[in-house]
This record gives sequence, structure tokens and C-alpha cells, in this order.
Amino acid sequence: MTNEKLRYGLIGAGSNAVKKHVSNYTKLDHIEFVSVCDINIENATKVARKYNIESVYSDYREMLKHEKLDIVSICTPNHLHADIAVYALLNGVNVHCEKPLAINAAEAQRIVDAKNISGKKVMVGLNNRFTNEMVKLKQYIDVGFFGDIYHAKAGWKRRSGIPGRGTWFTNQALSGGGVMIDLGVHFLDLPLFLLGLPEPSYITGATYQNFANTTTRNRNGYKGNPEGIFNVEDTAVGLIGFKNEATISFEFSWASNIEKDETFVEIFGTRGGASYKNGELKLFSEHFDTCIDIIPDINPNITLKNEFKHFTNCILNEEILYATAEDGVYMMNIIDHFYKAADSKAPVLFEHKAVVNV
Ligand SMILES: NC(=O)c1ccc[n+]([C@@H]2O[C@H](COP(=O)([O-])OP(=O)(O)OC[C@H]3O[C@@H](n4cnc5c(N)ncnc54)[C@H](O)[C@@H]3O)[C@@H](O)[C@H]2O)c1
Repeated sequence: MTNEKLRYGLIGAGSNAVKKHVSNYTKLDHIEFVSVCDINIENATKVARKYNIESVYSDYREMLKHEKLDIVSICTPNHLHADIAVYALLNGVNVHCEKPLAINAAEAQRIVDAKNISGKKVMVGLNNRFTNEMVKLKQYIDVGFFGDIYHAKAGWKRRSGIPGRGTWFTNQALSGGGVMIDLGVHFLDLPLFLLGLPEPSYITGATYQNFANTTTRNRNGYKGNPEGIFNVEDTAVGLIGFKNEATISFEFSWASNIEKDETFVEIFGTRGGASYKNGELKLFSEHFDTCIDIIPDINPNITLKNEFKHFTNCILNEEILYATAEDGVYMMNIIDHFYKAADSKAPVLFEHKAVVNV
């Protein structure tokens, strides 16, 4: 292991950046936190003070010009991800970009193109891939424990968790979409990742907006502006069919009349199945003519794969990336098609690349 330290900068010093990125990167030996940028200078200054650094910017271009950074976290609203990531990459900086990679596939592709030109690395902040349970489940999948996986289900349903009416989250131009692009990007990614990002064939689905004007206490889970824009869906449901004939169904909601919030991924295979519900992993199979349940004994005190250490290792030691920019384009292509299907109230086919025989 090298003794090199990577010069780290943060762009977008909001709630996710502080909770997730800075607190984790600053624990690593190979990271030196040198600079923070936020268009809201108060947010940037608060983080800088907490971590005892002096370099604060309100313009990311200035920061990238002056600070000779090796790595940045991009934690701004979604519509800014592509411009900032492309600018950072073309200035020689590795990028850890929050999910979604961008607001649509074309924007996400711009990031992949800039990455390829620059030779730098991009990781998408798909933190749910890094839980111990998901790392274990992926290992079971990779050794063929489940046989042929013909179906999977995923969902994240909140009873009261709209991320604040009138914030950028509920404004389509700034977020790219509603719950699908917020919670869906996290939990639809899991079965897609487990199934090896198979080639999609068709998608069908629906979006609903039933809680935008709710006055029920707490339904707007986070603080917001009651006068602000709410032009995205609060619920998204759908089904994807793949060329290999597997299917994935999904359900996401920021608000719904359910007993309590839940997250789930279920795997249906010919030799085994899995359920990952509210963070708990169980496997199902059969042995000696009997159905069996397996509960992996996962030690919560041991981190099997740390997102931040992993990206640092990818940069310093060429570790293979676990959440790539290409994965981000794949996801945004699915989401683009999902919105088309929901808007047209009809299934949408994915166009496949023509096979050219030479
Ligand atoms: N992985 C996760 O679990 C997770 C959780 C929450 C949010 N997120 C993602 O993180 C990103 C940020 O979400 P959040 O909840 O922290 O939002 P937030 O609104 O709390 O923070 C966004 C910050 O970006 C700043 N900003 C806006 N324009 C800027 C610009 N041009 N330059 C620099 N800073 C700018 C804002 O002032 C604000 O401080 C989003 O992409 C979101 O989807 C991921």
C-alpha cells in the first residue's frame, strides 16, 4: 500500500454530503480533506469549520482550478451532476458522484465520455450495494446458489417521507423525477445488480401523484416550502422484462396509506430464493425433500466492503470498481424508458443494438 494521500474536495455541502461523504472520507488514512464548495457559502463554511479547513469556495470551477484535487464528492441536486462531473474529470479529478449519476441517460453518457477521455475514475454513490447483506447476497448469486433466477421484486415504500414539498427533490427540472429517481435508483439497482445488469427488453409501469397537496402532519417527511413546485410522482410501480426472459417488478412511494415503511428485494430462483426485507437477509432452498430457511450470521460490527475506502483503493491500487459510471447510464436508460411507459400508459420496448456481421 502506498503512503500517498489523495487531496479530497467536497462539492455540495448539504445534508447527504455531511452525513455520508465527509464523515467517511475523513476517517481514511489516504485522504486529506482540503476544500469545500457550496453555492450557499454558509453551508460550505459550516463544514469547513467542523473539519478545521480554510479553503472554501462558492464556485466549483474556481475550486477545481486552484486546489489541485485528486478526488471530489459531488453531492449537489441531480441536475448539476453531469456538468460538474464532466468539468472535474476534464480537469484531471476522480469523481464520486451521488446517485442518480445524472437526470437522464444522455446526461449520464456525457460523464462516461469525459471519463474515457480523461482516464480518471467515476463511482456512483450506490451505497445500498455496499451493505454487508448485499455483499453476501451477491456472493451467493455469483456461485449459482439460486439456480436460474427468473424473477425479482424490489421496493421502498414510505408512509410519510416526501422529501419536502418545494425543495429541489419535487421539482422535475432540478431532480429529473420523483420517487423513482430518488428511492427507485437505490432499490431497483439492487436486483438489477444482482442479476448482472441484464439487457432489458420491455418496461411497463405507472406513476401517481396523490400526496402533493397533503396537509397531514408529517406526511412531508422533511422540511419544505408549502408554496413550492411539486411536479413529480410520489408513487411509481412497474415491471421490466429482460431478453433472457427474467422479470423484475418494483414499487416505490414517498407517501402511501400503509402500516409502516418498508424496503425489500426478493429473488426467485429455480434452486433457491432470497428475501432482504428492512435490512434482514434470509435465503430459502430445499434439501433432502424438505424446504429449508437459511439465515446468514452477518456480524454488523465488521464492514465487508466500505464504499469510501473502496473508491480510494480504486484510485490508488486499481481495485475494480463496484459501482461504475456505465452502471449509472444503464440505470438512467431504464428510468427514461419507465417514464415514457408511464406517460404513454403503454409498455415500451428497448431498442437493441443491431448485430453487424463482418
Ligand atoms: N446515497 C444516498 O443515500 C443519498 C441520500 C440523500 C441524497 N442523496 C443524493 O445526494 C445529492 C444531494 O442530496 P442532499 O439531500 O444532500 O441535498 P441538499 O439539498 O441537502 O444539498 C445539496 C447542496 O448542494 C448545494 N448546491 C446547489 N447548487 C450548487 C452548486 N452549483 N455548486 C455547489 N453546491 C451547490 C446546495 O446549496 C446544498 O447545500 C442528490 O443527488 C441526492 O440524490 C443520496
